[in-house]
Amino acid sequence: MAPGPARPALPVLLALIGALLPGLGGAQTSVHPAEAIIPRGGSVQVNCSTSCDQPSTLGLETQLTKKEVAHGVNWKVFELSDVQEDSHPICFANCHKQTMASMSLIVYWFPERVELLPLPRWQPVGENLTLRCQVAGGAPRDSLFVVLLRGEEELSRHPASGEPAEVEVTVPVLAGRDDHLANFSCRTDLDLRPRGLGLFQNISAPRQLRTFVLPETQPRLATPRIVEVGTQWAVNCTLDGLFPAAEAKVGLTLAEQKLHSTSLFSKDSVLAMANVEANTAEEGTQELACVVTLGEQDRMWKEDVTLYSFPAPNLTLSEPEVSEGTVVTVECEAQAGVVVSLSGLPPGPPAPRAQFQLNASAADHRRSFSCSAALDVAGRLLHKNQTRELHVLYGPRLDQRDCPGNWTWEEGSQQTLRCQAWGNPVPELKCHRKEDEALLPIGDLRPVKREVAGTYLCQARSPRGVVTREVVLNVTYHQNNMVIIILVAAAVILGTVSAAAYLYNRQRKIQKYRLQKAQEAAAMKLNTPATPP
Ligand SMILES: *[C@@H]1O[C@H](CO)[C@@H](O)[C@H](O)[C@H]1NC(C)=O
Ligand SMILES: *[C@@H]1O[C@H](CO)[C@@H](O)[C@H](O)[C@H]1NC(C)=O
Ligand SMILES: *[C@@H]1O[C@H](CO)[C@@H](O)[C@H](O)[C@H]1NC(C)=O
Ligand SMILES: *[C@@H]1O[C@H](CO)[C@@H](O)[C@H](O)[C@H]1NC(C)=O
Ligand SMILES: *[C@@H]1O[C@H](CO)[C@@H](O)[C@H](O)[C@H]1NC(C)=O
Ligand SMILES: *[C@@H]1O[C@H](CO)[C@@H](O)[C@H](O)[C@H]1NC(C)=O
Ligand SMILES: *[C@@H]1O[C@H](CO)[C@@H](O)[C@H](O)[C@H]1NC(C)=O
Ligand SMILES: *[C@@H]1O[C@H](CO)[C@@H](O)[C@H](O)[C@H]1NC(C)=O
Ligand SMILES: *[C@@H]1O[C@H](CO)[C@@H](O)[C@H](O)[C@H]1NC(C)=O
Repeated sequence: MAPGPARPALPVLLALIGALLPGLGGAQTSVHPAEAIIPRGGSVQVNCSTSCDQPSTLGLETQLTKKEVAHGVNWKVFELSDVQEDSHPICFANCHKQTMASMSLIVYWFPERVELLPLPRWQPVGENLTLRCQVAGGAPRDSLFVVLLRGEEELSRHPASGEPAEVEVTVPVLAGRDDHLANFSCRTDLDLRPRGLGLFQNISAPRQLRTFVLPETQPRLATPRIVEVGTQWAVNCTLDGLFPAAEAKVGLTLAEQKLHSTSLFSKDSVLAMANVEANTAEEGTQELACVVTLGEQDRMWKEDVTLYSFPAPNLTLSEPEVSEGTVVTVECEAQAGVVVSLSGLPPGPPAPRAQFQLNASAADHRRSFSCSAALDVAGRLLHKNQTRELHVLYGPRLDQRDCPGNWTWEEGSQQTLRCQAWGNPVPELKCHRKEDEALLPIGDLRPVKREVAGTYLCQARSPRGVVTREVVLNVTYHQNNMVIIILVAAAVILGTVSAAAYLYNRQRKIQKYRLQKAQEAAAMKLNTPATPP
């Protein structure tokens, strides 16, 4: 297809001669059309004619495949076929002298390949992106333009002039957030409208761009610094200022082991959460790392986490349930390196073990012993406690304090009768009146009645034995006695007074009578000495 350097030499030479010697002898050679544009590989008919006044020989000088398709007096029509490139066929005629006329045959064809070269997988926002478009073939080149597009928008237009079969156009584009997921493409415009044909466009396959923003800041890792093995703990890792946040990937690792995490995305940040449970094999200081990846770049942050194991201390009672008066050993033991302190024991030198003995009494029933263990983990003092309760078997007990043996109350008053038996197990208490087996009215007595008075026998019974106690309940009827006493006293006083009054009266009458008699006698003695009584 490429023309050899020797081939166009002859027609060019002939054309030059024809041009230098026009109209010699008056006859002229002409060609129709003088200029033609045809698709590559196409064919065209060329009419060569001469104005010679006598029949003359006509010819078409060309290296193209030609065929005479019609002729007349002084004209010939040739068909040129399989035209691959531009050429300049020359018509010549011999009329006295040889004259000639050249024509211009232009071939057009569409580019065979229009390709936008691959874009970076991820393009940082704010950096220049180079769009490169390659166009192979296409002619005529002076009518060919290369257009770079974002979506439908024309970014730039370049003429594809020049010889090389392949042209490459490069354009810098400042990548923005708007360019994320935008489709870029490259188009060729073969504009043959000035030559009476149309505008022919070929477009490349689109390429989608992904842009991103990953700030230089480090991810923030929220984690406890010390963690007990076997427990669950939460780890969060966040990074802000991301674009597009939803495309960010977060990897969390503990001791280079990947952790299962879930990510939450907001407009411009990502939060990854993981629940971790470390096993004993990982005891010690481990590295927790968070890596946020976006656009093939990553940001990492690491924290040291100390994993410790700290079982609660073993607090033991030699016997959890003992009889009163038994010696009990309370012992607390923890792993080496731990300091224990036992309640009820004054602080001693730090040790992982502590113990003491006690003579169990009723007061120790349900007494709670606690042991606190302390462990220093990475400068933090951790505590674990253990408690045990002692059960003491005692009683039954029924003494003056819990069940007073002598109650004396006034009838009608409001009282509370208290009688409680103690012991573990809890004793059963029964109180009966000695005379008639009536039950002792324990609790509120309102009002106190005289019928409850009496002597009761109380018995507290538990599997550990029986105790008895006498309870005397006296009821005084104070008010009634007073009335009787007053009445009796009044009656006695009244009787006495009446008797005294009677006796006095009688005595006075007697005396008066005796005085009267004496006076009468005296009078008789004076007046009538002979008057007897
Ligand atoms: C070729 O040109 C000549 C002179 O102009 C004309 O007479 C003739 O008819 C043409 N032939 C055709 C086939 O057009
Ligand atoms: C991007 O390219 C343009 C044009 O070449 C230039 O003016 C600009 O400074 C470049 N910007 C960056 C951030 O490289
Ligand atoms: C880009 O092209 C893809 C696939 O052809 C399409 O799904 C997407 O919507 C296009 N993006 C834009 C911004 O037009
Ligand atoms: C180029 O576009 C033309 C029409 O504009 C079409 O006929 C031709 O097939 C296209 N070429 C390629 C390689 O797609
Ligand atoms: C992790 O993030 C979640 C959701 O915001 C929050 O509820 C939780 O308290 C965080 N955990 C830690 C350890 O920061
Ligand atoms: C425990 O105490 C009781 C009563 O106080 C006493 O009788 C007993 O002897 C004590 N036992 C021991 C082993 O000290
Ligand atoms: C506590 O007791 C359990 C079971 O008896 C034993 O396995 C463990 O080693 C003990 N722990 C300590 C610190 O002594
Ligand atoms: C354990 O005991 C220690 C000391 O008695 C106390 O400071 C700590 O709060 C207790 N911890 C728990 C979990 O009960
Ligand atoms: C009961 O109490 C009364 C007065 O409070 C007293 O006179 C009496 O002697 C007491 N009886 C007994 C058995 O303690």
